[in-house]
Amino acid sequence: MLSCAGRNVKNLSPEEKPHSRQDWILLRAAHFGILPSEAEKRDLLIREDTPFREEDEELKKEAALIWRDMCALCHGIDGDPSKSLLVEPKPKKLGGFAMRMGFFFGGDAMRTAIYKIIRDGKGRMPGFAQKLSREQMWAMVRYLERM
Ligand code: HEC
Repeated sequence: MLSCAGRNVKNLSPEEKPHSRQDWILLRAAHFGILPSEAEKRDLLIREDTPFREEDEELKKEAALIWRDMCALCHGIDGDPSKSLLVEPKPKKLGGFAMRMGFFFGGDAMRTAIYKIIRDGKGRMPGFAQKLSREQMWAMVRYLERM
């Protein structure tokens, strides 16, 4: 079952798209009832060397949309790269038992290392620092942890 972050990715509506960094900041401003400049500042105050754990349903859904539209092409919708369109070299399988063990033993050091791969990219994977906010990138770490 393609259930990630407590949400079946098959149930996401095709019309719904993940937000660009800037649009996500605007959405957060509306969500918290703060100015866009304050939402921007909030995001830049999120630390990048230690996991950010605040989340709500809006952010969980955003992570599922990001996975479907920005990651699954190369990683496979359920983290299995044999189902991806990326030819070679394929990334290793994400999610499942091996990854859960990794998180269990790797703890916050592993979470932070994964955050940095998402931010900066690795090999053929592009970095997402320009496309996604810090909050969105940390949401992806949690998404993978539950995958
Ligand atoms: C253009 C294809 C592509 C896209 C898009 C992509 N990745 Fe990757 N990703 C890769 C490749 C290839 C690797 C393996 C990199 C290496 O080790 O050389 C990788 C590695 C990773 C790893 C590290 C796996 C490990 O154990 O070393 C994580 C985590 C990851 N990607 C998450 C994501 C997330 C989250 C997204 C979406 C925001 C994403 N990727 C988008 C191709 C992609």
